[in-house]
Amino acid sequence: MTLSTEHGKVARYSDVWRDSQSDPEGFWLKAAERIDWVAKPQTALTQRSDTDWRWFADGTLNVSANALDRHVAAGRGDTTALIYDSAMTGTTARLSYRELRDRVAAFAGALRGLGVEAGDRVLVYCPMTPEAVIAMLACARIGAIHSVVFGGFAANELAMRIRDAQPRVIVTASGGLEPGRAVEYLPLVSRALEICGGAASGVEAVVVRDREAVPGSAADYAADSEIPWLDWDELVADAEPADPVPMRADDPLYILYTSGTTGSPKGIVRDSGGYAVALSWVMQHVYDFGVGDTIFTASDVGWVVGHSFIVYGPLLAGGTTVLYEGKPVGTPDPGAFWRVLAETGAKVLSTAPTALRAIRREDPELTELRKYDLSRLQAVYLAGERMDPETWHWVRDGLGVEIVDHWWQTETGWPICANPLGIETLEAKAGSTTVPMPGFDVRIVDSAGADITAPGVEGNIGIRTPLPPGAMLEIWGSRQRFIDSYLTAFPGYYATGDAGHFDEDGHLFVMGRTDDVINVAGHRLSTGSLEEVLLLHPAIAECAVIGAHDELKGQRAAGFVTVKHGVRVTAEDLAAELVRLVREHIGPVAAFRDVTVLNRLPKTRSGKILRKTMRQIVDGEPYTVPATIEDTGVVDDFIDALATTVTAPPTRAVTIPR
Ligand code: COA
Ligand code: AMP
Repeated sequence: MTLSTEHGKVARYSDVWRDSQSDPEGFWLKAAERIDWVAKPQTALTQRSDTDWRWFADGTLNVSANALDRHVAAGRGDTTALIYDSAMTGTTARLSYRELRDRVAAFAGALRGLGVEAGDRVLVYCPMTPEAVIAMLACARIGAIHSVVFGGFAANELAMRIRDAQPRVIVTASGGLEPGRAVEYLPLVSRALEICGGAASGVEAVVVRDREAVPGSAADYAADSEIPWLDWDELVADAEPADPVPMRADDPLYILYTSGTTGSPKGIVRDSGGYAVALSWVMQHVYDFGVGDTIFTASDVGWVVGHSFIVYGPLLAGGTTVLYEGKPVGTPDPGAFWRVLAETGAKVLSTAPTALRAIRREDPELTELRKYDLSRLQAVYLAGERMDPETWHWVRDGLGVEIVDHWWQTETGWPICANPLGIETLEAKAGSTTVPMPGFDVRIVDSAGADITAPGVEGNIGIRTPLPPGAMLEIWGSRQRFIDSYLTAFPGYYATGDAGHFDEDGHLFVMGRTDDVINVAGHRLSTGSLEEVLLLHPAIAECAVIGAHDELKGQRAAGFVTVKHGVRVTAEDLAAELVRLVREHIGPVAAFRDVTVLNRLPKTRSGKILRKTMRQIVDGEPYTVPATIEDTGVVDDFIDALATTVTAPPTRAVTIPR
């Protein structure tokens, strides 16, 4: 198919990838021309050491201005920047580039009025409404570092992020809307601040966007708090609009927390210039997207997908982005995505495989699809978890458009592997994420870090360092943790935490994580942090949480517990209490339901829990019992106990009939 104007000629993927490897400096300086710089960078890569590199370090820019002001200046002020579609309230709204720029400038001024300066952190805990996007871009406008927290996390998780990022201001709303209930955010924010010691947390103000659909306002909390709680509208009414502030390219744009193997989430730090350049390049070459195009990314601004492909990517490219508040099914039916695509005329849909599985489960014949005109849709992009080949075929045959399964992580910020439709449409294979994108030198390495890349050879997926522009700079607050987490296991490589293999055509198949991270409905969770929560229950002696296969959500967290000697509790009661505990401590997003009470956990003689064997047994896969097992009978006991697994119903804290 297409051509790459970047190279001034019809390009082939393999040539473009090779250019990125043979002359990274030239390749990325050329890509940097897509950005309006305040000071244009003369150097692409500055490698300070094997573990410390920067992109465009001598350049300065403002990312928010590149996403907004630049398009207004180019005469596209009346073009729609953002279409808000709330299936939850039945409303839609459109904001042009000029309107969005003005609202961002006003809120940026409001933040500045609160004393927020470049480098300060602002925590954004907002539902999927335009204010979330406005808050992010307003931070970027004045050089503040935003950290968006997903609304499905509970007060404890919020508190952990407040402690780590030390925001000066929290921007929130009265709440979000989930099918059949409103999720009130303000009690969660208030509790999180209490956990962090109130004013001692360093938070100087909480800004609340009052949503009619959800009870609660700043005034409800202001009187009892040592921290001012302020109303968004009142604050903005008095604000002096702020101009964009030039920032160094390697200044952090945002921190986004993601699950690691421990209970303490990692604050992934994204740079400004590298990210802007990479996303601009990606929108054209991977998404074949530009001015005049509309993208519907069905995710949440709390995830990296939302940061890159709801907010920054589409706006940097001058296109139109859709912000959808709703679900793929049930709001009101499995035609919800098709309706949004038809009404917005979107060229691209990007979503998680779970969403398509949910639609398929309810509407396998795609009868809803027939109600809508999707003639402008050209491709569906999938990420967040492995796409099962059956659903891949179902969606490709049903929609008749290109299906791009692309693989990436919060850490990389943009696709490591994809089918680069804006360069060349390669043969797509079900189950494969196609090929490495320019800038990513992907290898299969063994446990000793040796490169064993060859067709069909399975192993750890590593990426040769340095990582390309836009990938993480470090972990907030700890460069050493960044090095230990990603750069130490396989020297010379970034360890992705995923395993997989290439085929004879160089297409990569990503098969699953090698660590304790699981993916539930495309939401990344740590089994370690779930285990920490289960252990808070006074009856629990030991526990293990594994990611079991789930037909809909890809994986689900399954808990295995042993009870302390002498404790009398039924499995049903215990399961209900554990489910409530996880909901309170992590949040509903963990979707934790399954509890199996065991007499003992399968372990090796040295005490290591056999999580892999447990998972294989639960998933009905062939398994091997390590010779080092403590006692072979424990595996038989484990298999017997699976028949007693209790699946507890969710316990909802707030239920508001709609
Ligand atoms: N705020 C508060 N709660 C939230 C939430 C949010 N932003 N998002 C989800 N939740 C809650 C849900 O209400 C649900 O609560 P419940 O236990 O009280 O029912 C729980 O978290 C689990 O949610 P979810 O994983 O969404 O499951 P579901 O059963 O409600 O819906 C799907 C199933 C398939 C429709 C849904 O998982 C989905 O849309 N998946 C697509 C995933 C996706 O886009 N991932 C983004 C990663 S890129
Ligand atoms: P997150 O950081 O939340 O985006 O999660 C990243 C992880 O999701 C990756 O490390 C993979 O395990 C998984 N993942 C993302 N995209 C894909 C994909 N296309 N195929 C398989 N796994 C994926």
